[in-house]
Amino acid sequence: MARFLVTGGAGYVGSHVVLALVERGDEVVIIDDLRQGHRAAVPEGVELVVADLADRARLAEVFAGWKFDGVLHFAALSLVGESMRDPLRYITENLSNTLGLADAAIRAGCLRFVLSSTAALFGFPERLPIDEAARLGPVSAYGESKLMAERGLEWAEQVHGLRSASLRYFNAAGADPKGRLGEDHNPETHLIPLAINAALGLGPELTVFGTDYDTPDGTCIRDYVHVTDLADAHLRVLDVLNEGRSVRYNVGNGSGYSVREVIDTVQRVTGRPVPHRTGPRRPGDPAVLVASNTRLREETGWTPRYAALEDIVRTAHAWRAAHPNGFRGNASQVAA
Ligand code: UFG
Repeated sequence: MARFLVTGGAGYVGSHVVLALVERGDEVVIIDDLRQGHRAAVPEGVELVVADLADRARLAEVFAGWKFDGVLHFAALSLVGESMRDPLRYITENLSNTLGLADAAIRAGCLRFVLSSTAALFGFPERLPIDEAARLGPVSAYGESKLMAERGLEWAEQVHGLRSASLRYFNAAGADPKGRLGEDHNPETHLIPLAINAALGLGPELTVFGTDYDTPDGTCIRDYVHVTDLADAHLRVLDVLNEGRSVRYNVGNGSGYSVREVIDTVQRVTGRPVPHRTGPRRPGDPAVLVASNTRLREETGWTPRYAALEDIVRTAHAWRAAHPNGFRGNASQVAA
């Protein structure tokens, strides 16, 4: 059994990782300011420290109170569009929180660190699928903030021996297959939950951002990866970090689906039409983003269990249909 500190552990990806850690018998302490996270997403028996990561004194107290075998860092500002309205806030907050957390971990002698990174590092990619050797060139302040965070961690390794894993997520989607957790952002900006909400009458009509891309049906193609498979990748990289080296992995299924294919799948799974209209392109959206997951598979043995878009949408729909208000009004905590 090991003990991990998980920042943002009450949020979407973080909560699925916490559940996976708890299920395999690890102990978890969460720091989450509950701006995006939900108390009801925290499993019973897991300590939740409600705090902002900018509160360095509180962070030091947490490291003084428990000895951790590793840190998993999910808490961050993560909306690409918002980052282009307020770039300095994104870069300042994401970078300083990551480096402040790494500093606190190093001081406490905790030298294993997993960073939630992003496909947004690659901007408009030069070739597909995108492997780890692809050129780094973010086209948003969000992507830049994560690239700077990755670079800061490289210096922390060189000087202090902090071993880190940067996981560049493609499009995280879906929900816990046992229905205990799901995706509940405010505001919601992601395609799959928006399309499901539109189909269920829980949200507005969907706008398709651009139908004139250079893709077979004219809409953008993305690599949707199931959040439970993403969680499994985190567990595996923790083991790699035990072997004593820092790593970087692109995490996706290696296949892409267009916005139209997502809409069709949501219609099939829900049995209802997805009310939608077409709109202009969203600035900064590349036509196609698909990951190469070869390195992750070969070095960690990771194999996605829910690679089919149908499975991703089915689990997301099941959770939303059972929780039309999301976590709101859910007093009870998740039972692992
Ligand atoms: N889309 C629509 N209408 C919507 C919302 C999205 O057509 O209302 C389209 C987008 O244009 C895009 C696709 O659906 O083509 C997926 O969009 P999302 O907003 O769900 O996800 P993104 O691909 O924009 O963003 C994801 C992560 C980011 C990460 C980025 C990397 O959420 O954190 O991939 O490019 F930075």
